[in-house]
Amino acid sequence: GQAEASKQNKKLVMATSADYPPYEFHDTSGEKDEIVGLDVDIAKYIAKEMGVELEIKDMDFNGLLPALQANRADFVMAGMTPTEERKKSVAFTETYYEAKNTIVAKTGSNLTKMEDLAGKKVVVQLGSTQQNAVEEAAKTIKGIEVTQLNKIGDLIQELKSGRAQATIIEDTVAKGYVVSNKDLEMNAMADNGENAYAVALPIGSAHVEKFNQAIKKLKESGELDKLTKKWFDK
Ligand code: ARG
Repeated sequence: GQAEASKQNKKLVMATSADYPPYEFHDTSGEKDEIVGLDVDIAKYIAKEMGVELEIKDMDFNGLLPALQANRADFVMAGMTPTEERKKSVAFTETYYEAKNTIVAKTGSNLTKMEDLAGKKVVVQLGSTQQNAVEEAAKTIKGIEVTQLNKIGDLIQELKSGRAQATIIEDTVAKGYVVSNKDLEMNAMADNGENAYAVALPIGSAHVEKFNQAIKKLKESGELDKLTKKWFDK
């Protein structure tokens, strides 16, 4: 009814996978467990521009687009790359960031390209572009054994325990994990392109244009640079 509609216009629900510092993660240092990060700050900026409240729902990365399609969220922001495959089911805004893939492994492994993963157990996040990249490579490179898990933290545990020998994680996120886990190292991938980030919305959503306007303003005003510095210079 009418009330329901106006209520919906006052609040936007963002779905994310809060396992991705510094983009989205649980900050448990304060009184309450809060989801914070660069994506969250950008989402807050967009919501403010649109004059709406923001609610954040945390879920597995692989469940984000299904949640959007099932109307359980108004948009997805999770360091998500606007791939051609995903564009078949959702709409994306302009991009707001560019990340690069790195190989994370035990210190001294020195893995720098897909070929180095031959004969290795590689664990990746379920539903990610990294999963696609490794599975694609495994078609031609011998003996890459790919497994998938839901959370980035789980990938790290697999490496530390030796159950997997490598994973692929984007540079800025990998950096944080490597800094806090001295037994792990990261290497920029010699043979892998960039993963841009964009916001996903339902196809045909009236919000796409407003999001794009807000993202444009975010970039042109210098606010995006400020936020990026805030989260990366820590
Ligand atoms: N950019 C990659 C993708 O779109 C990885 C994103 C992972 N994000 C996360 N919150 N765990 O598939």
